[in-house]
Amino acid sequence: MGCQMNEYDSEYLSSRLNEMGFAPVDAPEKADVVLINTCTVREKADQKAFSLLGRVSRLKLRQPGMILGLAGCLAQKEGNRLFKRFPQLDFIIGPRELGNIGTVLDDVSTCRKKRAAISLDHSPLTSFTRPLRNGKITAYISIMQGCNNFCAYCIVPYVRGREISRPPEDIVAEARQLIANGTKEITLLGQNVNSYLWNEDKNHDFSALLHELNALKGLLRLRFTTSHPKDLTDDLIHCFTKLDKLCPHIHLPFQAGANKVLRRMKRGYTREHYMTLVKRLREVVPDIAITSDVMVGFPGESRNDFEQTLDLVDKIQFDSLFSFKYSDRKGTLASYMKNKVSEEEKASRLSVLQNLQDAITLKKNRSLENRELPVLIEGYSKKNTQLMGRTGSNKIVNLTLNTIYIGCIVNVYIHKGHLHSLSGRPLDFGRSLIT
Ligand code: 5AD
Ligand code: SF4
Repeated sequence: MGCQMNEYDSEYLSSRLNEMGFAPVDAPEKADVVLINTCTVREKADQKAFSLLGRVSRLKLRQPGMILGLAGCLAQKEGNRLFKRFPQLDFIIGPRELGNIGTVLDDVSTCRKKRAAISLDHSPLTSFTRPLRNGKITAYISIMQGCNNFCAYCIVPYVRGREISRPPEDIVAEARQLIANGTKEITLLGQNVNSYLWNEDKNHDFSALLHELNALKGLLRLRFTTSHPKDLTDDLIHCFTKLDKLCPHIHLPFQAGANKVLRRMKRGYTREHYMTLVKRLREVVPDIAITSDVMVGFPGESRNDFEQTLDLVDKIQFDSLFSFKYSDRKGTLASYMKNKVSEEEKASRLSVLQNLQDAITLKKNRSLENRELPVLIEGYSKKNTQLMGRTGSNKIVNLTLNTIYIGCIVNVYIHKGHLHSLSGRPLDFGRSLIT
């Protein structure tokens, strides 16, 4: 449960368990090992994880042979006190220790002793084989771990450690392996991908990595997330025009619209700078989709500050927006700040903001009606009655099509734009058989 980094880590853990001889089951009561991977970026994620841990703990009381582990950011944040609160828990393993899952699990199963692996000193995960991912059309690759930014509200630097980039050859090897197994689209992941740098060498920065991956035969699309506005260089913006596989979409969190709030958040840019970046992106890549993260109710955010967030959202017209209520994360700078905004006020601000953005998203999606767009077909739609794919701008398209086109790029005529998706009709299959 959690972000894309977390999803990547979950895939890593299931692959490693698979290699060790464990097979997946469809219900926790049938499992020999239950490993819950967690996120702790917002308070809601904590609550979800605790309640799942409570449920599985009760299950374990009836099946004492079961091994119960907690992985990820919450395990890192809570540490040993988790064993007191959840006596059924056998081990905890932090995000930087995931590479040691084999030893940890061996220790626990042979010695039946509790184990806490929560050091932050380790290097990022190395390439791994992914038996579970064969045939997946889209896949993630983590290119860096951790974060150095210490935004005032954020717990990530504390639970995922400092920024550390993976060697480019490792990333390319992982990409080749995925492509050989049928993957057509790769999304590069990192808390701050555009500060990727290998060995302090400018020839191995993020743009260089994108160039290298773009050249891989068999790959149709390349994406990345998340970018920090303070590190968005012109060089990177130009990659969108230079690299044919790089999709015209950028996720660029802005977090708040008022300079006063941005300063207190320690974001390192102003509202004006953010707007200049968006202008520059749209000049160079006119069709680029821009999505973002924002929060309401940061400590001290006044009504007027919030109005500035609304104003920015209205001016920029994002393709879509993830919006959150600020929540205190223990130990962060913001958690010590005074003038906390009440829960009621946060909820009311969030709803105003989301209504505004919904209207913008719908308008944007409707503006694509009657256009022809290349869509990578990923698989079945949510309702399972149609196929689904995505435009380069990352919008979901549902359409009726033969399943042999899964994994192909098909030109689609968009006949309806909805709030969360588009409906389309396949046109010619000119490019579709390029795989
Ligand atoms: N409260 C609310 N939202 C948060 N985010 C990060 N920390 C907090 C917090 N303490 C949001 C930010 C970030 C996204 C992943 O989660 O918007 O971009
Ligand atoms: Fe958190 Fe800021 Fe780092 Fe993003 S850039 S992970 S918000 S500290």
